[in-house]
Amino acid sequence: MTSRSGQAIRLAPSILAADFSKLGAEIAAATRGGADQVHVDVMDGHFVPNITIGVPVVRSLRKATTLPLDVHLMITDPDRYIEAFIDAGANMVSVHVEVLPHLHRTIAQIKKLGAKAGAVLNPSTPVVAIEEVAADLDFVLVMSVNPGFGGQVFIPHSLTKIQNVRALLDRAGNRAPIEVDGGIDLTTVESVVKAGAEWLVAGNAIFGGGDAENAARAIKDKATAAAKG
Ligand code: DX5
Ligand code: ZN
Repeated sequence: MTSRSGQAIRLAPSILAADFSKLGAEIAAATRGGADQVHVDVMDGHFVPNITIGVPVVRSLRKATTLPLDVHLMITDPDRYIEAFIDAGANMVSVHVEVLPHLHRTIAQIKKLGAKAGAVLNPSTPVVAIEEVAADLDFVLVMSVNPGFGGQVFIPHSLTKIQNVRALLDRAGNRAPIEVDGGIDLTTVESVVKAGAEWLVAGNAIFGGGDAENAARAIKDKATAAAKG
């Protein structure tokens, strides 16, 4: 596998692994280390077996950082909440195809409300699920773990999935980036970049060790080098 020319690497720290009592300071540290956007994992206890945070936290984050807020909705009924999240300050909104029979409409709605629209694929969801909307997407999020929890082990088959999504987007004439989420750290980041990922979510690898700034910098540097190499 060789990296693609012109890959625009963006690091997206997942605050799920941060200390919620000092989110502003955690994000500031990751930002000094090169974070490009803040990944916010919204879970409802239905679509995934965990409950995290919602609209009020996004509204507070909006005041705490100037970075784009990348809101990943792991919820059963995203259509009902998209507008509230965008009003609260979400710049990117990603929705799981597994819960959306009218994905085309949902994507159009996110864009109409002024945010970038992403479709998310669980590890067991085939790439063909986004084939008919491939030209419409602003980004695709490939889950490299089963969603619900941070700190899980990267699923190796995700590399093939990233390559196949890239090929699908290219066939559709869409240069939209691929985001990858789950188990991204210094041991996996190079391979996902070489497979074609550009937006890199990392939770535990950034916030788990007590030095978010240097952890972010190390991952970003490795990803940037992999994109050039
Ligand atoms: C998992 C979430 C991820 C998670 C990543 O359901 O969508 O964003 O926080 O955490 P790490 O990087 O620790 O695997
Ligand atoms: Zn996520």
